[in-house]
Amino acid sequence: MRQPRMKVAIFILLSLSSPHLLAESAIGVNWGTISSHRLKPSTVVDLLKQNRIQKVKLFEADPYVLRGLAGSGIEVMVGIPNELLPGLSSSPAAADLWVRQNISGYVGKGGVDFRYIAVGNEPFLTSYAGQFQNYVLPALLNLQQSLAKVNLAGYIKLVVPCNADAYEATVPSQGAFRPELTEIMTQLVSFLNSNGSPFVVNIYPFLSLYGSSDFPQEYAFFGGTTHAVTDGSNVYYNAFDGNFDTLVSALTKLGYGRMPIIIGEVGWPTDGAISANLSAARAFNQGLVDHVLRGTGTPLRPSTPPMDVYLFSLLDEGAKSTLPGNFERHWGIFSFDGQAKYALNLGTGSGLLKNARNVQYLPSRWCVADPSKDLSTVENHMKLACNVADCTTLNYGGSCNEIGDKGNISYAFNSFYQLQMQNSRSCDFDGLGMITFLDPSMGECRFLVGVSNTSSAPVGSCPQLVTVYIAVMWVAWIVAV
Ligand SMILES: *[C@@H]1O[C@H](CO)[C@@H](O)[C@H](O)[C@H]1NC(C)=O
Ligand SMILES: *[C@@H]1O[C@H](CO)[C@@H](O)[C@H](O)[C@H]1NC(C)=O
Ligand SMILES: *[C@@H]1O[C@H](CO)[C@@H](O)[C@H](O)[C@H]1NC(C)=O
Ligand SMILES: *[C@@H]1O[C@H](CO)[C@@H](O)[C@H](O)[C@H]1NC(C)=O
Repeated sequence: MRQPRMKVAIFILLSLSSPHLLAESAIGVNWGTISSHRLKPSTVVDLLKQNRIQKVKLFEADPYVLRGLAGSGIEVMVGIPNELLPGLSSSPAAADLWVRQNISGYVGKGGVDFRYIAVGNEPFLTSYAGQFQNYVLPALLNLQQSLAKVNLAGYIKLVVPCNADAYEATVPSQGAFRPELTEIMTQLVSFLNSNGSPFVVNIYPFLSLYGSSDFPQEYAFFGGTTHAVTDGSNVYYNAFDGNFDTLVSALTKLGYGRMPIIIGEVGWPTDGAISANLSAARAFNQGLVDHVLRGTGTPLRPSTPPMDVYLFSLLDEGAKSTLPGNFERHWGIFSFDGQAKYALNLGTGSGLLKNARNVQYLPSRWCVADPSKDLSTVENHMKLACNVADCTTLNYGGSCNEIGDKGNISYAFNSFYQLQMQNSRSCDFDGLGMITFLDPSMGECRFLVGVSNTSSAPVGSCPQLVTVYIAVMWVAWIVAV
């Protein structure tokens, strides 16, 4: 407790002397954990430290992750899932309990350095059709009280990450929040302002490009464009700045044009769609980092870049829903096992990305289709394997789309086998699978080897119950067809 209080004092002094230029922009990362192959948190924290990444954003208070971050000195924004908002909004006691269970227990010397609590994740998203929006303000008020009770309200700020679809405009200077959100946004920004909290927004030029065939490709990047957007006397050369200033205009209309802004998510995926590839992701992320750290700001906020920018994402998450597209599992600047996908300099002084150290891989073996077998009956096996394991790279635009028929089958078999922690029965597939010690990877298409997240030797650590369950499902499914 002593240490945080001291930092509060310093914070106040700084904020009196320069309200909007507290510090230079910092580059942080989102650390999501919807993956079937999770690195040990200590390995991830070491990866963050090696790359001098000082700020991390989490989507929920996962005790396993928080224990890994304890004592690291890394600043944390921790999220509260939307599903918890109804409970937190209706009951001060529920908010107290959330804070006690997920914050207070980790704070103190050698603990977790929480700076922000993200209340909900994009709760105003159009596709939620208003499902969460009325819970946001009451939840914020309850949580603010709960933080005050444990003397953390001055140190930990509440924020609400919004998707850029919360506002709209044809040109940035016309930016306004969606009409149905005007009232709630007015209350939200007033709350944020009275607590000295920033506005947090997620901006995705990739999705604009992916979603619209007339979106000018160069405008998504930072290398200059023949499709600049002219807005009165201002000219926009990239979608990021245009989007940022649209938000600035929307805030200005509500009377908070100087509110600090944090980018909660921004990034570019590397697989699962044509425009999701390594060179595009490198170009976008390096362009973004250089642009932000140069500090030039935007036409409406010259010399005032976003306070912090959290890249989406640190690691690939192979178990995420593919509803948005197959690219959804490939946003990492590192692959699931902490290997840098491309050369990227985050401007943190550590040079190009450095790989994770001491990753505990399962043994170097893979499951592939037995070439001597008749594979004409393999379809159902493939479907079931790809229902649970990740096969997104096989699809059009993916890195494994051109490995042929047998390649497809082997890829699916292997994904499933690694997901099952290389349990030998999981490579059976009615006798069509076989284990190989030769890496079947082809060109850009990587056949993965799983990682172990336990400290003990991985062999024999297979979760038996899960295997049995899957075997049962398998039989049930095949019988049903
Ligand atoms: C290891 O990862 C699995 C999922 O892959 C997870 O269920 C399990 O809880 C993790 N191990 C520990 C010690 O948390
Ligand atoms: C603490 O956070 C976790 C993860 O979001 C959640 O499952 C749990 O319910 C929270 N605790 C309380 C008391 O709300
Ligand atoms: C990678 O994505 C960029 C950006 O959309 C695209 O122009 C390029 O053609 C893609 N590269 C490949 C090899 O598909
Ligand atoms: C492999 O599977 C993908 C995804 O279903 C498909 O697009 C591709 O055509 C397949 N390749 C062959 C040779 O069947």
